[in-house]
Amino acid sequence: MKLKKIVNNKSTKLMKRSLLLLTLVLSILFVRADEGMWIPSLIAKYNIADMQSKGFKLTAEDIYSINQPSIKDAIVHFGRGCTGELISPDGLIITNHHCGYGVIQSHSTVENDYLSDGFWAMSRNEELPNPNLTVTFLKSIEDVTEKVLKGYNDSMDEATRSQIVADNSSAIIDSVTNGTHYTARVAPMFYGNQYFLFVFEKYLDVRLVGAPPSDIGKFGGDTDNWMWPRHTGDFSLFRIYADKDNKPAAYSPDNVPYKPKHFLPISLKGIQPNDFTMVYGYPGTTQQYITSQAVKNIVDEVNPLRISLRETRLDIFDSYMVTNDTVRIKYASKHAGVANGWKKWIGERNGLIRLKTVEEKQTLEQQFAEWVSQSPDRKEKYGHIIPRFAELYAQYSALNNASILGWEAFRSVEMLRFAGYFSSFVSEFNTGGEPDLAKASERATSLIERTRSFYKDYYLPIDRDVFVQMLKVFTSAAPQELQPNLLRDKVSGFNEKDWYNFAEEMLNGSVFSDSTKLIYYLTNADTKAAQVFKNDAVFMLSSQYDSIFSANVYSPLREINSELDLLYRSYLGGLMEMQTDRKFYPDANSTLRVAYGHVAGYLPRDGVEYSHFTTLDGIIEKGKMGVYDYVVPEKLTELYNSKNYGRWEVNGTVPVAFVATNHTSGGNSGSPVLNAEGQLIGVNFDRVWEGTMSDIKFDPKVCRNISLDIRYALFVIDKFAGASHLIDEMTIIE
Ligand code: ARG
Ligand code: GLU
Repeated sequence: MKLKKIVNNKSTKLMKRSLLLLTLVLSILFVRADEGMWIPSLIAKYNIADMQSKGFKLTAEDIYSINQPSIKDAIVHFGRGCTGELISPDGLIITNHHCGYGVIQSHSTVENDYLSDGFWAMSRNEELPNPNLTVTFLKSIEDVTEKVLKGYNDSMDEATRSQIVADNSSAIIDSVTNGTHYTARVAPMFYGNQYFLFVFEKYLDVRLVGAPPSDIGKFGGDTDNWMWPRHTGDFSLFRIYADKDNKPAAYSPDNVPYKPKHFLPISLKGIQPNDFTMVYGYPGTTQQYITSQAVKNIVDEVNPLRISLRETRLDIFDSYMVTNDTVRIKYASKHAGVANGWKKWIGERNGLIRLKTVEEKQTLEQQFAEWVSQSPDRKEKYGHIIPRFAELYAQYSALNNASILGWEAFRSVEMLRFAGYFSSFVSEFNTGGEPDLAKASERATSLIERTRSFYKDYYLPIDRDVFVQMLKVFTSAAPQELQPNLLRDKVSGFNEKDWYNFAEEMLNGSVFSDSTKLIYYLTNADTKAAQVFKNDAVFMLSSQYDSIFSANVYSPLREINSELDLLYRSYLGGLMEMQTDRKFYPDANSTLRVAYGHVAGYLPRDGVEYSHFTTLDGIIEKGKMGVYDYVVPEKLTELYNSKNYGRWEVNGTVPVAFVATNHTSGGNSGSPVLNAEGQLIGVNFDRVWEGTMSDIKFDPKVCRNISLDIRYALFVIDKFAGASHLIDEMTIIE
């Protein structure tokens, strides 16, 4: 029996090899177009036939329905920027470790370090409440274009149109939410060619159930971030609680586990190249239709600027974090956030250059201009677009660069950013008339909250160094007229030492460096308090920056953007007329989308071939390299040595992650990856570096989303954490 198994294994392995090769060759010959993020309610109309031809076994109604439970009822917008999904009838949800990171950190101290050690609730009463965490279900989607544009005609200008859109939208929102606990949003698609109404139900009591130690959940850290091959166990578990009627309620010990309309069954059947996959979640922002000038601005100016500023900031964080554990915990989440953008923008820029996206867009724009010139009707309708883009972007790029410089350099000084939040409180006392004390005290209450969370993770020496390095760049790179004279006049002729002295003096001398004082003033919330803030040097510098930037950068940018929106709306309308066989999908805008594709490795560069999956063996291999981001927990090594894999074993190891061609973006973190039957096979957590330009330009050859193989999560929960009671809640299909 044993021998036979080995022999069989060998020959099936060989067969699998050649199959893999064949499919790789085939999939390179026929690159399937899996680009696109689709609106769930329109799948029935636009995508279902294509999806089924690619292997999907269910119906459009199974994906999204307002009449019966459907997969959408198992998906939540998790917190502000992630996705999560229900995996048990008792409200258990899975999302990424990096999505739960802030929450896990907030429960962690040096003595009780859940970031390092992991956390597992062994019973429901050990699950940890999180006052600021919510999850949101989507109830329905409706095309409301006509209602939103009611009262508008083509002869009106853009400002009037915006006003009409805003008024109609809020009336529509009121009509569906008044007297209910629902919330709603009207979102533009295709730059306002269409409008969709989304109605939501938000749950307020979401508790932490489990998180692996960072050595699993963040394995590979920033070294592997945005890269394949990947071995990150990037998951964490939460549970939604509801009142006894299954309705949303603020945290209460009396709340009970939420009973979902639908939860995802989990498949152990495994993942083969070319298998159909689908990602269902909340991608944040993409810019598929921007012009050559906009791409050029990103490639030549914006990304290089952001990359270099963040590099400097990360070096500062690092230098303090390696020597001080308290600082390491305080800055863990901030560091991850700063590093994440930094690395993505490098990959994005490389990809755009490699694909020659600027040139490709220029060609498209020329084709469009030619197409327009072919008929008087088109000239009348679209003739202005291409020349006007060129004019607008000439102004836009400089302003955009300034806004990036302001945000990434000036506003990266934490205390300057923090002080900025006090301006609405201060201005309450500077209206010229009597201050509205009720409003002021309301503002103060939320500032007290903000103050507490600011100080929990603030370390002044880091901020001082950031102050020096970032403001040095700011004062040398920003046009003179954009520099607050409180800064410019002060620092001219400064040497390094002067800069440090200045930073010390500013930060240490500020009321914003003393939480006790701050909270004292905020508690009084009176004229005296406003006076103290107003005369503070950090506050004065921050508000001078604010007024300069809002007058000279943000307000002109807003104007240009509003005209750009208008142009893009017409441009897209024209493109849709011109490119009749192209399938258009709206840019991501944090609304629920479906992306579908197939499992596939890729060729990252000449002579290199990446397979579609990774395993526990790779974790152990990386662990031996002695790199600080590759630390394997002892318990995991033990499980590996004893091959104690239980039912999660596949071919003598445990699968860890896989790549597929689904078109995803930031916000898709934590999204379920489903097979042809709508069963959960993975949790999306990243994209590959070679493909990070997919927010702007999707390349089917190298754009891949990276998913945690659900079997690795189950293995960790079961064998590593000994939390098999959680597995018992799930529906697992062998
Ligand atoms: N790149 C992934 C995303 O954009 C993961 C980020 C968290 N991980 C990290 N090492 N910073 O969110
Ligand atoms: N990690 C990303 C997120 O937080 C997902 C990766 C991506 O941008 O595709 O949403």
